[in-house]
Amino acid sequence: MKSPPLSERPPGFTYRRALRGFRPVAKELFADDVSIHALAKRYGTPLYIYSRSTIEERYHQFERAFQDSEHTVCYSVKANSNLSLLKILEKLGAGFDVVSGGELQRVLTANRKTTAKVVFSGVGKQSDEIDLALHSGILLFNVESASELQLLSARATHLRKRARFAVRINPDVEAGTHPHISTGLHEHKFGVPTAEAGELYELGSRNKFLSAAGVSVHIGSQITDLGPFRESMERAAEFAAALRARQYAIRYIDAGGGLGISYTREEGRDFPQHVSAYAEAVCGPVRRLGIHLLLEPGRSIVGPAGILVTRVVYKKRSNGKLFVVTDAAMNDLVRPALYDSYHEIVPVTVGSRGGARVEVDVVGPICESADFFARSRELPDVEQGDLLAILDAGAYGMSLASNYNSRPRAAEVMVEGKSARLIRRRETLADLLAPERV
Ligand code: LLP
Repeated sequence: MKSPPLSERPPGFTYRRALRGFRPVAKELFADDVSIHALAKRYGTPLYIYSRSTIEERYHQFERAFQDSEHTVCYSVKANSNLSLLKILEKLGAGFDVVSGGELQRVLTANRKTTAKVVFSGVGKQSDEIDLALHSGILLFNVESASELQLLSARATHLRKRARFAVRINPDVEAGTHPHISTGLHEHKFGVPTAEAGELYELGSRNKFLSAAGVSVHIGSQITDLGPFRESMERAAEFAAALRARQYAIRYIDAGGGLGISYTREEGRDFPQHVSAYAEAVCGPVRRLGIHLLLEPGRSIVGPAGILVTRVVYKKRSNGKLFVVTDAAMNDLVRPALYDSYHEIVPVTVGSRGGARVEVDVVGPICESADFFARSRELPDVEQGDLLAILDAGAYGMSLASNYNSRPRAAEVMVEGKSARLIRRRETLADLLAPERV
């Protein structure tokens, strides 16, 4: 029987021939040089596994694509906020894009000194969060409304701390992505229409503690067509030039994040080319301005660098449909339920069950019909106890995990070449109950 094509995510996740005891194992998925089977045995499932080499390679490729422009890569912490992962990126020289006091605290914990490369985005910044950012001396506040600017102004004056700000403009550009993760149209809550943003610069510059330093824009996430990036950067460039003509010292354009990845195939080898084309779309429109670019990638750095490993708990046949019930659920990875998104699912061991493929729904144990990872998908036949890997789960996987159905959150492991270390222990039921009172 023909064996199924192997779906890999090099350099981090590849199949290798392995011998396990006396059982003939045809091929087994590895994270760098570490057997995923061994990791699942050691740390249990569901288990997030990240490949450090993939994170580093993608970060370098991203950096390289922008090497001809003055820039800072501010990794978007919301994509995956694990402290070890932040530490790895910080060591590579990354700055960070944060959207809450909690995310800023994570960056401070990873390395206090990186705050000079932190940008603070988000529509609902509150006093305590602004204060923390002012005390930390971050690079830039991306302001999203007049009320926010007033609060920033009041807090900066009160604390006698200086702050640089950019207004996030809403460029009214269609990003062509899922409606839940599209942000650059007038109907969205994000940003300020360019026609009104000018007033905010004027308002801000009345306070000696504030300086108008940039223009920011972010049109959405998982965007694969580069046209909208170019278009929004054209608007941002035009606006920045107009501000400069009014004597504002605009030094930065924050291009936001949003570069999409392929969830259906291995893209590792194409990424350098893809990110270069993205860099051209972003840099082209601003080149004549000689400006410092800020970039906020999240998914494109860490998405393909992580997988979620889960064990098959049951196989269940119902009305002619075959369900594979796994020990991971929508509380571990909510993307399919929330955005109907596709994640490739592959067996950790290939070949030990012949090569039969069957059409299945892969579902979790949570009491919701939306608790699925795949619907009517043809997969290699699996049995109870087998391990599956859900690919491209490094971004918006663990960071969106919850305790729904009182399920403790998964453990996370970072693989570094031949070794692996636990970077977040599995939650216990005691952890879950600790904050509550009877
Ligand atoms: N900057 C800002 C201001 C953002 O709002 C975001 C993402 C990013 C940067 C990073 O975007 P990225 O490069 O990762 O696309 N949970 C959704 C994605 C939500 C994105 C929210 N903002 C998902 O799982 O697809």
